[in-house]
Amino acid sequence: MNILILGGGGREHSLAWAVLQNPKCDKLIVAPGNAGIAQIAECADLDILNGGAVAQFCEENSIDFIIVGPEAPLAAGVADDLRNAGFLVFGPSKEAARLEASKGFTKEICDAAGAPTAGYARFDQADAAKDYIRAEGAPIVVKADGLAAGKGVIVAMDEATALDAIDDMFGGEFGSAGAEVVIEEFMEGEEASFFVLCDGKNALPVGTAQDHKRAYDGDEGPNTGGMGAYSPAPILDEAMQTQVMDQIVYPTLREMAARGTPYAGVLYVGLMIKDGQARLVEYNCRFGDPECQVLMLRLGAQALDLMIAAAEGTLDRAKVTWADDHAMTVVLAAKGYPGSYDKGTVIGRLNDLPENSWEVCFHAGTTTKDGQVVATGGRVLNATARGKTVAEARDRAYAMADAIDWPEGFYRKDIGWRVLG
Ligand code: AMP
Ligand code: GLY
Repeated sequence: MNILILGGGGREHSLAWAVLQNPKCDKLIVAPGNAGIAQIAECADLDILNGGAVAQFCEENSIDFIIVGPEAPLAAGVADDLRNAGFLVFGPSKEAARLEASKGFTKEICDAAGAPTAGYARFDQADAAKDYIRAEGAPIVVKADGLAAGKGVIVAMDEATALDAIDDMFGGEFGSAGAEVVIEEFMEGEEASFFVLCDGKNALPVGTAQDHKRAYDGDEGPNTGGMGAYSPAPILDEAMQTQVMDQIVYPTLREMAARGTPYAGVLYVGLMIKDGQARLVEYNCRFGDPECQVLMLRLGAQALDLMIAAAEGTLDRAKVTWADDHAMTVVLAAKGYPGSYDKGTVIGRLNDLPENSWEVCFHAGTTTKDGQVVATGGRVLNATARGKTVAEARDRAYAMADAIDWPEGFYRKDIGWRVLG
């Protein structure tokens, strides 16, 4: 099978790594890829938001299966374009990807499905939004409706912050993503992520994870795309997974199918859990980054079979085999991230790192320049390891992070504190 992965982050490096473990894969191309992916697969320069261009590339390269990594091509309808051209694709349609691309739409689906989530109201006028905030009081959560690269959510602990967020959003700070806002009840509890493969009819849980969104130790500092993650998430035990499938995932999938827009792909279910009850925080229509990295290390070769089953509609016959293990990833980011940071700094000693089925350093934002690996993004590397215990996974991941020579980078030292005590 010739396989194309769209994307070039740590998530896609880990997807490529898992796909290559599977003997079904004859050839792998990743577009655009990065310096780490280039060491294991062919990388192609391709406009991944242009469905027509991707379809033509697949035709020319005899591609049999396409895995779409990030949300932007999904929200742009690239999976539809590829399916219409006759290709087998892992990733939801543009209509189904609205579960991530519009927060208001997700709330509407939750209402129709009876899925527990935070109370909310939707606004397209600043004055009415502010009146609502004053009436409800803080803490309160203000969200831009559309895709805002993870920056469109303001958890306001006081009223002034919430009112400022309304000014920013209707003032155009988030572009068209902020033309509508959702204002939500603040939920307390423990957050966890649940990943479910879907084929339009069937659903199969493929793992749980928790990530650390804040930039600095002690969960302090600004929000980021995620500074580290581990799997499994103990709070999502079997009983809790059953509750989430019954109360949230299946009702959502039934509602999507009833509307003629069945969901197929991976559903990333972001949850807030308190007193034994889970409520939905958000859906994403893709694997999390860096959560995917810990899931792929644990799933290995079977990840490809599962994604093919999701694309073909045969998940009812698929099974996941779990080792009794744990995985952790530590994100190495450029100093200054998530604010401004330097690009082009050189990263050394990557070739000395171990690489086996227990430990891999996935690349997120790297390229090769004059024979050296240089940083090109905010989140740059993911030191990822498995272990029989979470402490063992942590020790291996941090040994890798410590061994990397990158003075312009930083990483949190306390990933997994909640489960490690
Ligand atoms: P989202 O982009 O919807 O995942 O929101 C980003 C983060 O904001 C989440 O991971 C939560 O930590 C927080 N958040 C979002 N909605 C709420 C809510 N209603 N109550 C409390 N925290 C929230
Ligand atoms: N790590 C959070 C996300 O991928 O949305």
